[in-house]
Parts: sequence; structure tokens; C-alpha cells
Amino acid sequence: MERKNWVRVAGTSAVLAVLILSYTRSASADGRWGAGYFPNVALTTQDGATVHFYDDVLKGKIVAINLIYTHCQYSCPLETARLAQVQQILGDRVGKDIFFYSITIDPKRDTPEVLKAYAEKFHAGRGWTFLTGKKEDIDLISKKMGLYSDPSLNKDGHTPHLLIGNEATGQWMRDSATDNPKFLANLIGNLMGDWRSPSTTSPTKAGAEAAPLHLDPGGYLFKKECAPCHTIGRGDNIGPDLLGVTLTRDHDWLVRFIRQPAKLLAENDPIAIALFRKYKEVQMPKLPVGDEDMAALIKFLESQDQKMTAGGVIRAVKTSPTK
Ligand code: HEC
Repeated sequence: MERKNWVRVAGTSAVLAVLILSYTRSASADGRWGAGYFPNVALTTQDGATVHFYDDVLKGKIVAINLIYTHCQYSCPLETARLAQVQQILGDRVGKDIFFYSITIDPKRDTPEVLKAYAEKFHAGRGWTFLTGKKEDIDLISKKMGLYSDPSLNKDGHTPHLLIGNEATGQWMRDSATDNPKFLANLIGNLMGDWRSPSTTSPTKAGAEAAPLHLDPGGYLFKKECAPCHTIGRGDNIGPDLLGVTLTRDHDWLVRFIRQPAKLLAENDPIAIALFRKYKEVQMPKLPVGDEDMAALIKFLESQDQKMTAGGVIRAVKTSPTK
């Protein structure tokens, strides 16, 4: 298989870190986000408990906050899956000094019960709370926290941003919630935790510490866009194990499904229906994969299947959801 250096994640992260740092500088120039800045509105957790946004959610904590809604077909499932990876990397610090919050922007449909099922599907552990509340309160939070975007301009109804903050030190930064999980964990764990002495943990160092990756384009895309939910040969995760998928599914079906899973479902495609029933709490997100990237992705999946067939592994592992 032809291999070439596709993207050096370390390089990308270093550039990102610099961007984030300058964002933070301009944010603090506007004055520190003090206690009076945050709306102390009441929200409800996935377990039905009432919490107040400033007093219980933010005060004295290092937090990572994103906006989601469980019916989202675009980037939120990927964001949530990425945060689950970050949580695994940070281990038991989450729930001690670091707290994750996913706030729904669709409180009508996302009741505490719905959020609880969603959280379980993503294996969200201790220290990660899903919140719902009154629509106007959530809008206020999202505007104040710089997470709001005009729904008419954005098909997702929000931008896939993760807000990272240390309420005690008054440092806040915004990053793409779909960034590299190791980089995000580093940022949350080291930078925010030790913000007062930035000379010992500079963001450039955090970026430079990420191991460089040498993957082919399809492998790189898979790792970035698909691996938060899928494995190849290591069992079902949030989505199905994709081992053997290029052998059991038709090429054109795969392309259509990866591009527009919801459309196949709406057309009553029997495989899409069976998959949806089996994995009902999370829908495969609609990911913007261009033609070239799609070809690289499928080539990568095929190469994995060929390797496994050659090794005699595949028949033992593959189970079709249509059976
Ligand atoms: C947020 C989680 C998530 C992400 C990210 C994701 N998927 Fe999925 N995927 C799912 C779920 C869940 C299903 C099961 C079908 C459903 O419920 O829609 C699925 C189903 C599939 C299937 C059908 C499997 C079969 O047995 O036919 C393929 C193929 C697939 N995904 C490929 C991809 C590729 C390629 C990517 C990356 C470009 C990707 N997925 C990203 C969650 C995800």
C-alpha cells in the first residue's frame, strides 16, 4: 500500500494553540468574566436535579462546555464522541477538578430522560453532565458564552465549538469541539489547570508534545472523523464495528450511506432501518465528505478488509445487522 505523509498533527496543533492564545488575550482585554457576568439560571440535569449555571456549574471549576441536541444529524454526535475520548484521556480528573457539560439547544425534545439515554450511549462518565432548561435561559447562556450562532445561517443551529474555561482564574478559550482528542485533553488538563504559570506549560509545548502521525489520507480521515464512533475489528463502539463492511455492502450504498445516512432511512432502505433500530440513541452524523476524501476513505476501509481476509480473521468477526 502506498504511504505518504499526509498531515502532521503536531504541526496543526501548534498553529491552533497560537490562535487560541490570541483569542484568550483579546477576551481578557474585554475584562475578566467575573461572577456577575454569568447568568445564574436554573437548569435540569439528565438525572432530573436542578442546578444553577453559575453557582453549581461553573463556580471554582475547570469546565468544558458544548451545545448539542440529540436529534442533530450533523456535527454534534461527532463532537460528543470526541469529548468522550477526551474524558477517557483525562481519566479521574473529570469529576474532581474538571467538569464537562453538554447543554441542549432543543429543550422541548431533549427531556432529562432523553439526555440520559444519549449520555449512556456515549459512555459519558462521572463529571460529565447533560443539561436542559428553559429555551430563553439556554439562549442567554449560549450568547453570553460566545457559543451562539444564527440558526438561519448554520444548518446545525449552532457552531461546533467547545468552550474551555477556568472560572477561578477567569481564563476562557474557545476551540473546535471536533479537534484532536489528545490535544484537547492536553489543553484542558495542563493549560487550564496551571494557567497562572504559563511559562512552565506553554501552549506551543502542549502542541509539540502530540506525537506526529504518518497516515495515508483515508486512514487520517478515518481517525479524525470516524474513529470516535467506529472501530475496525475491535467491536462495536457508539456505531458498529466496520470490519468487513466493504465486503458485505455495495460500494455505491456505502458512499450514499456515509454522505446521507438520514436520507437512506427516509427512503426505507432496509439496511439503514435495521442499523437505526440497533443503534437508536445515536444517529450516524451527516459528515461533509468530498469526492476525493470519500474515495480515500473507502480505499482505506477496503485495505483493512483485505488485510483481515488475508489473515482469515474476517468471517469470525463479521455479523450483518440485517440478519
Ligand atoms: C457520532 C458517531 C459516528 C461517527 C462520527 C461516524 N459514524 Fe458511522 N455510524 C454511526 C452509527 C450510530 C451507525 C449505525 C447506523 C445509525 O444508527 O445511523 C453508523 C453506521 C455506519 C455505517 C454502516 C455500517 C454497516 O454495517 O453497514 C458505515 C459504513 C459508517 N457508519 C461509516 C462511517 C464513516 C466512514 C465515518 C467517518 C467519515 C463515520 N461512519 C462516522 C455513528 C457514527
